[in-house]
Amino acid sequence: MTRPLHIVILAAGDGTRMRSRLPKVLHPLGGKPMLGHVIDAARALSPARIHVVYNPAVPAVREAFEGAEDLQWAGQRERLGTGHAVQQAMPGIPADADVLVLYGDTPLVPASLLAELLSTCPDGLALLTLAPPDPAGYGRIVRDADGVIEGIVEHRDATDAQRAIGEVNSGILRAPAGQLAQWLGRLESGNAQGEFYLTDIVAMARADGTEIDAVIAPDAGLLEGANDRVQLAELASRHRVLAAEALMRGGVTIVDPARFDLRGRLQAGQDIHLDINVVIEGDCELGDNVQVGPGCVLKDCRLAAGTRVHAHSVLEGVTTTGACDIGPFARVRPGTQLAEGTRVGNFVEVKNTTLAAGSKASHLTYLGDAVIGQGVNIGAGTITCNYDGVNKFKTVIGDGAFIGSDTQLVAPVTVGKGATIGAGSTIVRDAPDHQLTVSRSKQVTVKGWKRPTKKLD
Ligand code: UD1
Ligand code: CA
Repeated sequence: MTRPLHIVILAAGDGTRMRSRLPKVLHPLGGKPMLGHVIDAARALSPARIHVVYNPAVPAVREAFEGAEDLQWAGQRERLGTGHAVQQAMPGIPADADVLVLYGDTPLVPASLLAELLSTCPDGLALLTLAPPDPAGYGRIVRDADGVIEGIVEHRDATDAQRAIGEVNSGILRAPAGQLAQWLGRLESGNAQGEFYLTDIVAMARADGTEIDAVIAPDAGLLEGANDRVQLAELASRHRVLAAEALMRGGVTIVDPARFDLRGRLQAGQDIHLDINVVIEGDCELGDNVQVGPGCVLKDCRLAAGTRVHAHSVLEGVTTTGACDIGPFARVRPGTQLAEGTRVGNFVEVKNTTLAAGSKASHLTYLGDAVIGQGVNIGAGTITCNYDGVNKFKTVIGDGAFIGSDTQLVAPVTVGKGATIGAGSTIVRDAPDHQLTVSRSKQVTVKGWKRPTKKLD
């Protein structure tokens, strides 16, 4: 019979080395707090319960995950060490459970490695260890002459000979709840840091004759913790490359994986082409053959197959329903829907606007709260005046209309089907179908007018 799995995530540490007002575990990596990554890895194991140990004096940690009903929060009032931290969660864990301990500051731990740890040494104590290039600061794994694990010595408590050991503790371990509770109750704090070390349970397990085994991580970099911003940046760049590699394996071309930043989720079709310095945020979905030029930012967008986003465009909350062209230098804001064959060109801002098939706004334009029919041509410098300072109003433009350059459409206003608006017009009333509407003062030429000349003194 398998035991129910309870996962304990330690997230109560002070994180002083971050030198930040933001709690360490809330520092983001790839657009998500470190703790969020660890919670997701935990969820991937479908545990009976996830317990998060936090400091009640730092409620922001708990508040950041408001509404996540699978999380049980255990407060640790004083920072008395990792063993003391785990102890805070034990009252919520049944004695017949298996306990997996994770750290809130080790965000890249692969769920697959955790799954391996769960099946290692099932009736005993299983440790996840690593051999980082520089073991300084970590607890060392002490093995006997036969290679059997005897205990863990913290760096600060270690002798020079022990410090020479290359295999170190990731902090992640799995143990039967009943025994774990016993060991935790026997911890003492007579060590260099005056803390109740979780790592001391290893020697107790050995003394009890409990079997101990370790999974040695093949890729040490994924188990490193982020104690300061330098380490966080290293993990973030690791994360970036991993995300890029997964997309490339799925059929996306990424011109330079080191210059691609996924800060959310991307659901990608085939043969997508992402140029350098593309940032993806929130939830994006890109269809087959979508092309994104250099320097573009896409947040919460759904772009249909064949959509081309040209260099340095910023898109948020945009939906395209067919192949179309956006940018370069376009800013397309939430609520915008672009159909097949549309074009939003350079220095065009679009917000909460629909462009039906084949309509174009190629240059220097603001379209806000507008419904634009098919085959409409919007001239350069057109502005929908959608805001009177208090309320927003709608502009409707019928199929086949032609809006001359430098036109202001003062909403609410409707431009009829096939209507033409003369350049430089300020349109304050509806313009009828199929007719020319123009509002501009007549052009005059002043006879005999002379340019002023420079005065001589
Ligand atoms: C710990 C391990 C060390 C291991 C290293 C891996 C111990 C005694 N040492 O050292 O063997 O090599 O991690 O990174 O376990 N925390 C609490 N409450 C506390 C103390 C810590 O919740 O009272 C949490 C922290 O938020 C953090 C984790 O426990 O997520 C580890 O604490 P940290 O102080 O970073 O431990 P290390 O000194 O790195
Ligand atoms: Ca740490």
